[in-house]
This record gives sequence, C-alpha cells and structure tokens, in this order.
Amino acid sequence: MEAAKRRYRDLEVKTFVIDDDEPESWSPEQFKQELGIRIIHDLRQGTLELRPLPDAALRLADLARDPDPSIDDAVAVLERDPALASRVLKLAASPAMSRRPPADLSQAALTVGVHQLRDMAFAVASGRVFRAPGLDDEVQQEHLHSFQVGVATAEVFKRMGIGSKQGFLVGMLHDIGALLLYSALSQYGRESPELLKPEFIARARQTLHAALGEAVIRSWGLSETVRAGARYHHHPSDAGALSQVAQAVSVADYAAKLEAAGENDRAAQLCQHAPLYAAGLNASDAAAIATAIDSASGA
Ligand SMILES: [Fe+2]
Ligand SMILES: [Fe+2]
Repeated sequence: MEAAKRRYRDLEVKTFVIDDDEPESWSPEQFKQELGIRIIHDLRQGTLELRPLPDAALRLADLARDPDPSIDDAVAVLERDPALASRVLKLAASPAMSRRPPADLSQAALTVGVHQLRDMAFAVASGRVFRAPGLDDEVQQEHLHSFQVGVATAEVFKRMGIGSKQGFLVGMLHDIGALLLYSALSQYGRESPELLKPEFIARARQTLHAALGEAVIRSWGLSETVRAGARYHHHPSDAGALSQVAQAVSVADYAAKLEAAGENDRAAQLCQHAPLYAAGLNASDAAAIATAIDSASGA
C-alpha cells in the first residue's frame, strides 16, 4: 500500500515538472495545472522551504477546535510565547481592531474570543512563515498592501454594517496566496530562472494568488470569513452566503491600489467605482475609507 502510494506520488511529481516548458507563453489553464498544482502538492508534502508556525499558534488552533474553548487556556498558551503574545496584543490594540485598546491579553481575549485570537496569532505569525530570497521587494510590497487593505476592510465592514469584527484580519490575509507563490517561485527559480522573470511572476500572481490563499487559510484552519475574503475578493458574487464579506474586501483592495495624490484624490477616484455603490456605500463612506488607507500608509 505504502509502495503504491509512493509510486503515485512520484508519478504526480513528474507530471508537473515545468522545466522544459516555455512559461512565458503559458495560458491561465497552464498556470493552474503546472504551477498551481505543483505548489499545492509541495505545500502538502512539506517540501516548500517555509519557516514553521510558532508552536503557540498551532496550540491555539488546537484549542479553537474544541466546541467550547476556554479563554483562560488560550491566554495561557499565548503567554508561553511572549514575543507572539506581545505582537497579538499590539494588533488587538491597534485602531483598526478596536476603539478601546485592551489593557492586557486576557482582556483582549475576552473581547474577541478564542477563534479570533487564533486568527490574530496566525496573521501576526504569517509575516515570518513565507520567505522568498531574491523577491524581497515583492514581499515587502505585499506586506504594505495587506496592512492597508486590512485597515480599509475594517472600515468597510463597519460602513456596510457587517457585524463581524474580523474586517482587519480578513483584509490583512486576503492576498496571503501571493506570499506562498513568491516563496515557491523563489525556490523553483534556482533550477528554472525563467520563473523569476517579472512578467511571469505578475501573471502567475494574477492567476493563482486567490486559490493559493484559500489553500493556506484552509491548511491553517482559520475562519470561513477569512477564507472567503482570500478566495473571492476578485469575484465576490461567487462567494455565496459570504458575498458581502468578499465585496467588502474587493472595495478595500481597489481603494488601496489606487494611485492617488492624497486622501481626497483617493476618495474622489473611489467615488467613480460602481462596486462602491453596489456594496451600499456612498461618497462619505469613500472618504472614510480613503482616510483609513492614508493613515495606514504613514504607519
Ligand atoms: Fe488579490
Ligand atoms: Fe490585494
């Protein structure tokens, strides 16, 4: 049985070897089949060169699987990793997460609950998991973009009346698939340098990042809200019951990507964007979203 499994795996790996293709001319289908499947395969096999998640985050994920998880246990788990705990507390105290910053981790945990505490720990830890030597500029840009979209999504959630307090996390993790992609390309590029051409990277990102993001979030067991944001922010109407969440991320993402000379210009450009109104928002919402993004850019 084991031997059969191994054979199957070897065969699969062979099927997706990409070296002798001409990746510059790939179609979206080829991206999905050749590169997307190879990355998911390597992610499952543990052969991508990723840094491990902190133990405390994994233990928190374990706790959160309990039908009635204990807040005290969750705090105790996090406190065993003081560096992670302090970064989670800093995130909990940021204006994008709460109006009244919690005094300590216990208070933060009581306010947000174990599931959101877990998602926060993963969001904080995710910055260190994906390493992509040679693609540092791309990674840096993704981090800035993610933070801006996190702040903007929190604002959009409020303005759309979405009850969840997870807006910031959903936004912060919406393009996490791009980080997985860069890690994989940086690794594969040592054998196949053509995979590191900027045009190839850009097209691979466009075709694959949402599906890869969903795979990361599933593998971490994070909430459905976070998953829907990552998977559907470019196609909100496909998100079913969570289409409002995806719509919110889509507006925040668009607003953050605008090249604007200041927040008034950003707000004015956002007012030209039909999906803003489809999400039930108006010009004063656009102004608030623009302010949030500009404050995040200076942070
Ligand atoms: Fe995206
Ligand atoms: Fe984005």
